[in-house]
Amino acid sequence: MTTDNKAADLKSATSATVKPEKDFSQYFQAPSLKDAKKRGKEEIKVHYDDFIIPEEMKEIGKGRHYLLRTYGCQMNEHDSETIAGILEMMGFTSTDDEETADVVLFNTCAIREGAEDKVFGELGHFKRIKRNNPNLILGVCGCMSQEEKVVNRILQTYQQVDLIFGTHNIHRLPVLLQEAMFSKEMVIEVWSKEGDIIENMPSKREGNIKAWVNIMYGCDKFCTYCIVPYTRGKERSRRPEDVIAEVRDIARQGFKEIMLLGQNVNAYGKDFEDMEYGLGDLMDEIRKIDIPRIRFTTSHPRDFDDHLIEVLAKGGNLVEMIHLPSQSGSTEVLKRMARKYTREQYLELVNKIKAAIPNVALTTDIIVGFPGETEEQFQETLSLMEEVRYDSAYTFMYSPREGTPAAVMEDSVPEDVKKNRLHRLLDVQNRISLEKNQELLGQTVELLVEGESKKNPEVLSGRTRTGKLVHFKGDQSLVGTFVHVTIHDAKTHTLYGDLVKTTVEV
Ligand code: 5AD
Ligand code: SF4
Repeated sequence: MTTDNKAADLKSATSATVKPEKDFSQYFQAPSLKDAKKRGKEEIKVHYDDFIIPEEMKEIGKGRHYLLRTYGCQMNEHDSETIAGILEMMGFTSTDDEETADVVLFNTCAIREGAEDKVFGELGHFKRIKRNNPNLILGVCGCMSQEEKVVNRILQTYQQVDLIFGTHNIHRLPVLLQEAMFSKEMVIEVWSKEGDIIENMPSKREGNIKAWVNIMYGCDKFCTYCIVPYTRGKERSRRPEDVIAEVRDIARQGFKEIMLLGQNVNAYGKDFEDMEYGLGDLMDEIRKIDIPRIRFTTSHPRDFDDHLIEVLAKGGNLVEMIHLPSQSGSTEVLKRMARKYTREQYLELVNKIKAAIPNVALTTDIIVGFPGETEEQFQETLSLMEEVRYDSAYTFMYSPREGTPAAVMEDSVPEDVKKNRLHRLLDVQNRISLEKNQELLGQTVELLVEGESKKNPEVLSGRTRTGKLVHFKGDQSLVGTFVHVTIHDAKTHTLYGDLVKTTVEV
């Protein structure tokens, strides 16, 4: 890897300005999933000076409002913080009012069909709003923009859209917005293939309690059901010094918790050509920074190495919670998913983690109804849940994604069987979650107080080191501090406690 201050090489970009009333294909090259799949050998460049706001755009947002809707994962949430940061640097202020917003952006998710349907529904709804307010700039970004079929559908059916950009060129937003505002033509810039890192972008973080920090981008795992390697590009790690500088800055600002982010954080550093440096090494350095809690997500079991376990076992500000998606408990299904581990290897890793970090909370993602999943194979997933005893699980019905290998496998599990399996899976997990929460009855736990509970302003809510949500009665002034609470009631997803000690030093 080298660092490079030059402007981004746009040669690999697919970019164009489109007149909606014409035959679109001659004006732009659609994003291509085929190109996105290629993993080139060229080195990854870090660009420190590529985010620029053109002079004439620096004050363009004064008196204007933006509305930003975010779908999907924490990576998208964090990208939205960058987008909001960029817009606010240009003078825009945030609004929730669709009727008066001057710029509306949908930061989209492509992981399942349901997520995409929601966005198309919303875009349809904006047809009327755009008619009443023709100066409105309506934009689509995020993972859906990286899919050619989505861009084609927008071109054909959603001409109220003014701007489409992808996940690799967020830093180009000021320039693209300028084109969209002044050309009055649909602007599309989606880079299908990208392997670079853009540093020094602004971020508008919510509050000052919890902060997200990207440590790497992209994914090279190509699990057969997953669209992410196509929409997020190849695995590339931020330089440790850049991550550490950002975490230090966040600590100085008084944040209490950071979440290190990446689609596959365990591959951190594998792309460095000048040094042997992995996630364990990074965590070992970050834990020395004065920030009370550090988490990371998402892990792939395959790359979870012993050094990382050793470092996590040091505890302190490294909390004992690991999201370790298994996806299935059947070795046969795992093979077809291309997860590259067996049920036994997964359990071996779980046992190693449990032995090193005794109070660890484990969570997972599970897909039911993957093509060809039999009842017996599904039952292996149920038994894996019983064996691991996850604290909680994110459970999904398989949804075919065009362009992925699984999409051309015979989708043999009927919808009602998928639904039935999902219910059974949830029943098992809910029982285990409740049992695990009940184990905490009578115990005193440390909480980071995050805010008022949604239902009652006299009740505060906070999270344990293991990520469990706890409600308790307390004064507003405790928000953002650490307290001790004794648990007196346990439900499946929530605990209830009594405050025993305020302003705990962490
Ligand atoms: N269908 C259903 N669930 C999926 N996931 C990823 N792709 C699909 C798909 N095509 C789930 C996986 C992943 C989580 C973020 O979303 O469980 O870990
Ligand atoms: Fe998708 Fe697999 Fe990469 Fe996770 S590891 S983002 S599930 S391809």
